[in-house]
Amino acid sequence: MVTEPKFRNAKFCIPKKNRHDCQGAEVFRWSVRAYAEKEVEIRREYNNIMATDWESPVVSTADMRHGKNKGGSSYKRRERREEWLMHRMMHRISDTSAGSRSASQRVSSGSSGNGGEERLTEAEAAADATSANATTADNSPEKIRELFREVNTKFYERYTRIDNSDDFFMSMYKPIRSSIRVNTLKADLEDVVARLREDFHLESVPWCEEGFFINTESFGSIPEHRLGVIFTQESASMIPPVLMELSPKMNVLDIAAAPGAKTTQIAQYMCNDGCIIANDVKMKRLNILISNLQRCGVLIAHVTMKDGRFFGKFEERFDAVLVDVPCSNVGMIRKNFKYLKYWRASEIKRLSKLQKGLILAGYKALKEGGVLVYSTCTLDPVENEGVVDFLIRETEAEIENIKLPVNRHPPFLEFDGVSFNEDLRKCLRIHPQDNDTEGFFVAKIRKP
Ligand SMILES: C[S@@+](CC[C@H](N)C(=O)[O-])C[C@H]1O[C@@H](n2cnc3c(N)ncnc32)[C@H](O)[C@@H]1O
Repeated sequence: MVTEPKFRNAKFCIPKKNRHDCQGAEVFRWSVRAYAEKEVEIRREYNNIMATDWESPVVSTADMRHGKNKGGSSYKRRERREEWLMHRMMHRISDTSAGSRSASQRVSSGSSGNGGEERLTEAEAAADATSANATTADNSPEKIRELFREVNTKFYERYTRIDNSDDFFMSMYKPIRSSIRVNTLKADLEDVVARLREDFHLESVPWCEEGFFINTESFGSIPEHRLGVIFTQESASMIPPVLMELSPKMNVLDIAAAPGAKTTQIAQYMCNDGCIIANDVKMKRLNILISNLQRCGVLIAHVTMKDGRFFGKFEERFDAVLVDVPCSNVGMIRKNFKYLKYWRASEIKRLSKLQKGLILAGYKALKEGGVLVYSTCTLDPVENEGVVDFLIRETEAEIENIKLPVNRHPPFLEFDGVSFNEDLRKCLRIHPQDNDTEGFFVAKIRKP
């Protein structure tokens, strides 16, 4: 029996018009449940579609809709199947409740890779165009380094102390590979992979069974994406939920959850059974989170809007905790040069203070024997090793080895004259050139 924690002071994020009759989380939960019944249908239907012989009545109906017989080549059959999936999807969207529709309408882009900070304002975006387009015709290491130095000198100076290899700067310049995670809450892995392989080249992500590199960036036209059967997610950001030792009926805290790439993955590993508190401090991003939870058919999330440090009050209540913190987003420079342009050394101190508060709160909320995973998409030792070192100095926390087939760099045991605990060796520090992913840092921590 799962006992769901009660958060009386938490402001639950539900459509404004419903807030007045909100009884804790129940209203939001109810609306998700209503949606869920449709999800079960969608899943069944998707399975049917996969199992369908394309000369069956299902396709004939689609043919009749178009007033012609499109039978014949496999290309045409595939075209019909796509049309059919798209048709079903449009049908579902127009069928869903007003609440869920308004949530998805407010969001322009349903999913995001690892969920870095929110979009820029228009003014910033205009300024951004210059730096985002920063390119050089000469791709020699010297030129690339010069480009980084020009766009942000302070960044270049700091990062040459973190990784001064040509490989590092060359990889940071190279666009990131697209990747997806198959949402097994909605369809079977093999079915989805077989269907997608008809149109795309898929390459398995070695550290995540449901993850695939894919040779496209236009996901809007893929029916599986709109149906929530796949989720676009940066491959390195698939690691934290894999390490959380999740199973059904657990109570899980996702302390900084929006836009929900990892929350949806957590729900998938819990087989939609148990309870996830999906928290974020920003309303704008919570809307995207809710939209993603609905699209992916997640039924067990309670969405809260609080400063994550608030959860320190709920001592030993969660079986597993994810602390995927706001950070300086250096790993995401491969996605967009705006992260290079807006990087500020002065921000690191502020972020590290917030990160320490979040990891400590997450640790307090964790039950004995439970796993806390700390992750960032940045490579700065002050935001990574420094924060985990703080936790193991302040508490009894134990760092565990991460046994995954991932190439890695040794974690820092000293930076800027500050030494870190030897156990920090067990953390996972991924530089972009290691696996051709974004830069990432993960620590797996257990409460003894
Ligand atoms: C790296 S993103 C999280 C990505 C998310 N886990 C995912 O996988 O999609 C960091 C998030 O922390 C949120 N955040 C910032 N300050 C916070 C705070 N004090 N408490 C909780 N969340 C916070 C940001 O709004 C942002 O959504």
